[in-house]
Amino acid sequence: MSCVLEDIINQKLSSAFANLGLDTKYAAVKVSDRPDLSDFQCNGALALAKIEKKNPRQIAETIAEKLTQDADFAKVSVDGPGFLNLTLNDDFLAAVADKMATDERFGCALNPNPKTVVMDYGGPNVAKEMHVGHLRSGVIGESMRRIEEFVGNKPIADVHFGDWGTPIGMILAEVIAHDGDLNKIESYDIAEITRFYKQANIRCKENEAAKETARQITAKLQEGDATYRKAWKHIRQVSVDAVKENYKELGVHFDLWLGESDAHNTCFEIKKIAQDKGLLEYDDGAYIIRLDEGNKPKPPVIIEKSDGGFTYQATDLATIKMRVDDLKADEIIYFVDKRQSLHFEQVFEAAEKLGIAPNVKLQHIGFGTVNGADGKPFKTRDGGVMNLSDMIKMSKEKVAESMPKADESKGITQEYLDHLISQVAIGAIKFQDLKNNIASGYIFELDDFANFEGKTGPYIQYAVARINSIMRKNKDINLGKIKVTNPEERNLLLKLAQLNNVVVRAEADREPSLISDYVYNLAQSFSAFYNTSPIMGAESQEIASSRLAIAKLTRDVLVKLLYLLGIEAPEVMLKA
Ligand code: ARG
Repeated sequence: MSCVLEDIINQKLSSAFANLGLDTKYAAVKVSDRPDLSDFQCNGALALAKIEKKNPRQIAETIAEKLTQDADFAKVSVDGPGFLNLTLNDDFLAAVADKMATDERFGCALNPNPKTVVMDYGGPNVAKEMHVGHLRSGVIGESMRRIEEFVGNKPIADVHFGDWGTPIGMILAEVIAHDGDLNKIESYDIAEITRFYKQANIRCKENEAAKETARQITAKLQEGDATYRKAWKHIRQVSVDAVKENYKELGVHFDLWLGESDAHNTCFEIKKIAQDKGLLEYDDGAYIIRLDEGNKPKPPVIIEKSDGGFTYQATDLATIKMRVDDLKADEIIYFVDKRQSLHFEQVFEAAEKLGIAPNVKLQHIGFGTVNGADGKPFKTRDGGVMNLSDMIKMSKEKVAESMPKADESKGITQEYLDHLISQVAIGAIKFQDLKNNIASGYIFELDDFANFEGKTGPYIQYAVARINSIMRKNKDINLGKIKVTNPEERNLLLKLAQLNNVVVRAEADREPSLISDYVYNLAQSFSAFYNTSPIMGAESQEIASSRLAIAKLTRDVLVKLLYLLGIEAPEVMLKA
């Protein structure tokens, strides 16, 4: 027996429809909008009525009659103009839960035709400290990577480092202006290099000549100037090291640490393909590809600027080609701020014209900004851009307020506490980010995001720790066959059985917030169950064993869902 509940029910409906000579296309259920009336509903009779030119209620009634013969349904009714309402038999529901409990994937389906999904997230830039904007890309991308893996696809995550544009030339020019040459550059660490970049930014804003110098250095670097390349290598390395530290702390993983620079050689190929296809135009000193199709004309893609440098668009096109040729991508997904939508529309259309990604799905998942209470992009108290490490530090301080102090006599060492605080703070940051629709921005809630109550990461972590403690307290009771003895128990099992569908939908829609909604509802349903269904004081040994098995299954599913969001589940939670 499969244990994907909706699949089983759809299967049952399909045979009933086929039996009655009805088109099985309409034999699909969805979770009931009226849980007080039924568990699932099917609206197929309404569509069928139009085709068969019959009364929808009549069609629904014949289907209902057939389904009533199946003992797995406790009740089948026809309501309104012809809605089928289905209520499951408790034993059937319990059997599905039992099956989930004995499978390490909880019976979730695996994609029989795994796709290679290249995932482009993170996207930090050389010499710039990461700010909260880079948080979203990393957090959403990491969660989607785990979801892709869970459903059986093959994700390949690439950080796509911004390591090839004018900022490099700006830093090199600034160092030369300061030191006279680049001899000392290898002694500079990330803090110093970031400082040079900040100064360069100010200088280039005020001074056209400085900007021009930076552009020329960038062009020479790209052409292969040995001194510039050597200096660039160092800058890149210290930046990558710093970024790796940040992402490690956030629990964000990458398979590849490639960057724009790695696409440089392929940019020549892109230019050549464009030329061969007659798509390349020389316009005002630059090489461009025009995009004028459709009803929404877009500005042209610029491949090479007048100074000979390749553009951000060119490197993205070259990178697509490499991902298709070398990584055999079936899909390439970009998790990038939605303010870059036009860039991706242009790049995708150019890729299509160039024919470099045939049958490959290219998708930009654009997300909104992290905002402050004023609704504007999040800033520090003094109005600066909040960088990622400061934000993590601040979150840890907030979490530490609700934790006890280290106390060796109670076995709470400082080291243990620091680890726990980090797990909770990162969990809080990530959950806050993933609890909203990805496309919308959100307000970074300084006060509530780390609360143990409400729709927060720590609330779910606490629910897991609570079940762990229940399991420890009842370790003498065996896990038993699952039974339904009250409505809260039933509701929890019904929720658990939706796992596969939620994960499948989150993958298809590339929407981790479906998982955060579900995990929150599940934790709440567990609470309601535990308040009404004692284990130690259960009516019988059998019921106690069943409830313990339900608790364990819920815990395991919650832990898996947190994992899919990129959040750790501490064994124990502490409260001050
Ligand atoms: N480095 C870019 C930025 O900070 C993001 C890169 C996104 N990925 C890409 N393939 N364009 O804006």
